[in-house]
Amino acid sequence: MLSAKLTSNAHGQDSSYFLGWEEYEKNPYHQIDNPNGIIQMGLAENQLSFDLLESWIKNNPDATGFKKDDQSIFKELALFQDYHGLPAFKNALVRFMSETRGNTVTFDPKNLVLTAGATSANETLMFCVANPGDAFLIPTPYYPGFDRDLKWRTGAEIVPIQCSSSNGFRITRSALEDAYQQAQKQDLKVKGVLITNPSNPLGTSLSLHELDLLVNFISTKNIHLISDEVYSGTVFGSPNFVSIMEVLKNRNLVNNEVSKRVHIVYSLSKDLGLPGFRIGAIYSGNEDIVAAATKMSSFGLISSQTQYLLSEMLSDRKFTKSYLSENRRRLKKRQETLVKGLQKSGIRCLKSNAGLFCWVDMRDLMKSKSFEGEMELWEKMVYEVRLNISPGSSCHCSEPGWFRVCFANMSDETLAQAMQRVKSFVDSKKNNHNRRHQILNNARRTRSLPKWVFSLTSTQLEAVGQR
Ligand SMILES: Cc1ncc(COP(=O)(O)O)c(C=O)c1O
Repeated sequence: MLSAKLTSNAHGQDSSYFLGWEEYEKNPYHQIDNPNGIIQMGLAENQLSFDLLESWIKNNPDATGFKKDDQSIFKELALFQDYHGLPAFKNALVRFMSETRGNTVTFDPKNLVLTAGATSANETLMFCVANPGDAFLIPTPYYPGFDRDLKWRTGAEIVPIQCSSSNGFRITRSALEDAYQQAQKQDLKVKGVLITNPSNPLGTSLSLHELDLLVNFISTKNIHLISDEVYSGTVFGSPNFVSIMEVLKNRNLVNNEVSKRVHIVYSLSKDLGLPGFRIGAIYSGNEDIVAAATKMSSFGLISSQTQYLLSEMLSDRKFTKSYLSENRRRLKKRQETLVKGLQKSGIRCLKSNAGLFCWVDMRDLMKSKSFEGEMELWEKMVYEVRLNISPGSSCHCSEPGWFRVCFANMSDETLAQAMQRVKSFVDSKKNNHNRRHQILNNARRTRSLPKWVFSLTSTQLEAVGQR
C-alpha cells in the first residue's frame, strides 16, 4: 500500500555515514556526564565562531525582534510569501558570495533562487536538468548526502569519476572520459558533472587546471556543470579558492552558451555555521532554470524572518569582513591541531586548505587492505576507540583505508580527548604487534613451530608459549 519511493533504498540511510551518527546518538560523549561516550567526528559542522554571531545578535536586537528603524515589521514578515525572496536578502547574499570569493566576481540577484539549504538546491537542479534515469558524473570521493539529494526523489543516477590517491585525488581528463564512457555502457544519458569545490570530503579546493578541464569537458560534451561551493568561505590556506564563476569570467564565457549550463550551489550552513536555518541558493545564468527553480522553491522556502535576520547581518560589511577573517584563522588553527595530533600517532592527512574535515590515510591500521578491512577498522573506531569518523567507502572512495575526520564541531578539549584515544589505540596495536614478534622470536629460538601458530593473536601465542 506504500509508494515505491518509500520502500526504495536509494536514500542511502543504511550507509555507514548515517549509521555512525545513529551510534553516536545512542552514546554521545560529554566531558562530565558521559566521558566514555562516542565523540562525533562525522559531522561537518562549524561551531568555532558562534560567539561572533551571538555577539552580533546581541548588538543588533532589531534583527531578531521583528523591528526596522524601531518600527515593528512583524505583520509584514508574517504575511510575506513571495517565492522570489526578500530583495534585501538576495542583494546581501550575492554581495557576501562575492566577498567570500575575494571580490573577484560579482553576482546578479536576478540569477539567484533561494532554497532551503544546499540540499534542496542540489535536488532542485536535478529536477531542472535530469529526467529519471539520466546521469550526473561526480568525482570520488564525494559527500555521502548526494545519494539522497541527487538520486532519491528525482530518479537521476550518479556515475563516479574515479579519482585516486596517486595524484591526491585530482580530476583528470582520462577519469572524466572513463566515467562518461561508463555511463554510456550502462545506457545512461549524461546530463552533467557535479563538483564540490572546495571538496567534501577532501578538504581541498580545485586547481585552475582542473576547472579549465571541466569547462572544456562540458563544452565539448554539451552537458551541464553544477559547482557546489558551500565551503567557498571556509578556505583557510593556500592555494586561494577559485570559483567556477571566475573561470568563466577569465575565459570570457559569461553570458555565452556554456555559461547557461554552469550553475552554482551555495548555502550559509558551512560558511556561517547555520545549518539549522536552512539558507541555500542556486545561482544560474540560465533564465529557464532560474524561472523553473523559483517555482519549485515553493516546496522549500527560507522563512521570512530568517531572510530578514540574515539580510541585516550580511549587510553589515564590517561584521562580515571580521567574521570571515577570524573564522578562517580559527579553522586553520583547528585543522593544524588535528593534523599534528594524528601525526603523533603516525597517521597522515591529505594536505588540505579548506573545509571542516581532513581526509585521513588509515591504510596502515587495517588488518587487510580491502573494504572489509576498512569496515572492520571503522567498527573498532566507533565501538572501541569511540570516535565516529566516516569511512571512505561511504564517500564512494575507490581505495580502502581513507576516512573523513571532522574537526570543527567540538571544543578544543574534546579534540584533545579524541587525539588521546587515537594515540592509545595505535600504541596498543603497536605493542600487540611487538609482543607477538617477541613471542614468536623466543619460540623460534627454542623449537621449530608449525605454520598455524603464525596466525595466532598475541594472547593466544602467550597461551601457547606457556604450555
Ligand atoms: C558538499 C555539500 N553540499 C551540500 C550540503 C548540504 O548543505 P545544507 O545544510 O545547506 O543543505 C553539504 C553538507 O554537509 C555538503 O557538504
